[in-house]
Amino acid sequence: MNNDRHILITGGAGYIGSLLTSELLRANYRVTVADSLLFGGESLVPFFHHPNFHFVKADVTEPRAVKDAVRSEHSSGVLWPQPDAIVHLAAIVGFPACQAVGHQVAWKYNVEATKMVFEQASDLGVGRFVFASTYSNYGLMPDGKPVTEESPLNPQSLYAETKIAAEEFLLGQKDAPSAPLLFRFATLYGISPRTRFDLIVNQFVLDAYTKHQLLIYQRGYSRSFVHVRDVVRGIMMGLDAPQEKIRGQVYNLGTESGNYTKDQIVNLVLKRMPETTVEYKDLTFGGDMRDITVSFAKIKRELGFETTLDVDDGIRELLFAMKTGLIRNPLDQRYRNAQFIVQ
Ligand SMILES: NC(=O)c1ccc[n+]([C@@H]2O[C@H](COP(=O)([O-])OP(=O)(O)OC[C@H]3O[C@@H](n4cnc5c(N)ncnc54)[C@H](O)[C@@H]3O)[C@@H](O)[C@H]2O)c1
Repeated sequence: MNNDRHILITGGAGYIGSLLTSELLRANYRVTVADSLLFGGESLVPFFHHPNFHFVKADVTEPRAVKDAVRSEHSSGVLWPQPDAIVHLAAIVGFPACQAVGHQVAWKYNVEATKMVFEQASDLGVGRFVFASTYSNYGLMPDGKPVTEESPLNPQSLYAETKIAAEEFLLGQKDAPSAPLLFRFATLYGISPRTRFDLIVNQFVLDAYTKHQLLIYQRGYSRSFVHVRDVVRGIMMGLDAPQEKIRGQVYNLGTESGNYTKDQIVNLVLKRMPETTVEYKDLTFGGDMRDITVSFAKIKRELGFETTLDVDDGIRELLFAMKTGLIRNPLDQRYRNAQFIVQ
């Protein structure tokens, strides 16, 4: 099943991409990863000998990066057929990382590179182009109701500004040979071959486990959360759905039951680590969003997507990975985007 389908993932060594690679290989897809390895490539080493895996070190801010990756020989000496889809994940991810690199670099990586990757996909006749965007784009709930794909976008950070600019470009390309499909992910949590500890749930579990203390800003503010494995499943559903159905569509990817206040997340962490002390500060600081809850009705209705994991599952597996030593040094900078990028 699927072994004639070939997916190219930009940013495939990252948090989402490395797990997507693993799941696509498991489902018998061929996978090419094009990644510049900003955080190293250890996440891909387990796939090295897999006959359906191909890695190309490439920087997608280079104009021909995707075309060159597609034309590069697999280690077996054979040239693979063209990709059926590109999943474009490569980016400077998160508002702290974007702030750290500054406007010009963030724009080059997140907007200009997206245009170039899309144009190469269309030139090559790649059937679909999946874009990873974020619910940070909404920024606010203008009328106090959960935001839907139709809600106005109010970026509160450079990161969201770049994602919106890339979205606008792609939504102007609905009739291009490559069908654009846009996902606005909730904030991720959970373990992947490249786990990140700079995301709220993962960070809280790390702090509670290593410092036995949590410092919480804006305790009542709500956010939306989704497990990285569910995100990967959602992307795969987008790869399987009929092309004409997904062309030019935007889907919030997450679940209504993943809408939590920070306080509720803290309580879930405390349930598993009751010895943790919690200090609250209500300072407003240069952050990404205010209060927000999200509707995921469209992805459920149109793609039949439902999540299978919840925040407690994520907390449990993160703790397991740290306690057993599977993740030996979770404080290492390589698990945190902004700190690593400015090193
Ligand atoms: N993690 C989240 O909570 C979240 C939420 C919403 C959206 N997203 C989006 O999903 C995508 C993947 O996020 P992630 O958490 O896996 O990020 P990540 O930082 O773990 O991975 C990004 C990968 O892209 C690579 N990369 C960056 N610039 C590149 C370039 N110019 N050329 C080639 N490779 C490059 C990096 O080396 C890294 O392997 C991003 O586009 C991000 O904006 C993530």
